Amino acid sequence: MRMLLIANWKMHYGPMKAGGWIRAFRRERLPKELDIAVAVPHVSLAAARASLGRASIPALAAQDAFWAPDGAFTGEISADMLNEFGVQYCLVGHSERRVHLGETDAMVAKKAAALQAAGISPVICVGEDEAQYKKGEVAKVLRAQVTAAIANVKPDGKAPLVLAYEPIWAIGTGKPCLPQKAKEAHEIIRSVLQKKFSPSAAEHIRIIYGGSVDARNISEYVTTTGVNGALVGGASLDPRAFALLCRTANPA
Ligand code: PGA
Repeated sequence: MRMLLIANWKMHYGPMKAGGWIRAFRRERLPKELDIAVAVPHVSLAAARASLGRASIPALAAQDAFWAPDGAFTGEISADMLNEFGVQYCLVGHSERRVHLGETDAMVAKKAAALQAAGISPVICVGEDEAQYKKGEVAKVLRAQVTAAIANVKPDGKAPLVLAYEPIWAIGTGKPCLPQKAKEAHEIIRSVLQKKFSPSAAEHIRIIYGGSVDARNISEYVTTTGVNGALVGGASLDPRAFALLCRTANPA
């Protein structure tokens, strides 16, 4: 299975800066054996696409989409609108949206299904917070989140499903989850996928890790069984640093 590395700019880089990042990243030596994507703010999609032209490295990703195809939903963006920019992946249910905007598992499920129906791979983000971690509730939280989120999606097809395990306490803190703990969490997530789909379908679904990943620790994750890539926030803001991270993930 090809590894997937996604840069998540979060709320950084409007259209004035997005093109510069893309051009600087593309000047770097990039491994062909990995899938690389960049999740940019909606307002930067046009500029990012203009800098990319028809190129697909990095693939373009969005950070959110609404579930309805159109209608009276002020401020929202549909999956079909994302298609106009050639978006290949879209994050869904990032913990920052769950925490600051009250996104629920039910909303995440509707968004994931709408994206997949529009041909865009949903990258469903799940993960426990610090209190849940300390109480030993990781398995319970992950099972509930994943079961709800995948209610209406298919494992594969034109827009294959991706899961991202992002323990909230590890995001932006410089305190990454130990690879062994990430491995256990990925096993829990994969067991839910196995039950919902089939063991062989679940084997082919990429589960990526996110939370304080950088060029120094990426190799620990990509060499951990069951970890199929990474979602990278802070360490993706510098295009050269993110390119180095990509090369480190694939030293060949
Ligand atoms: P971080 O963010 O790499 O800055 O911890 C990861 C994420 O939230 O996707």
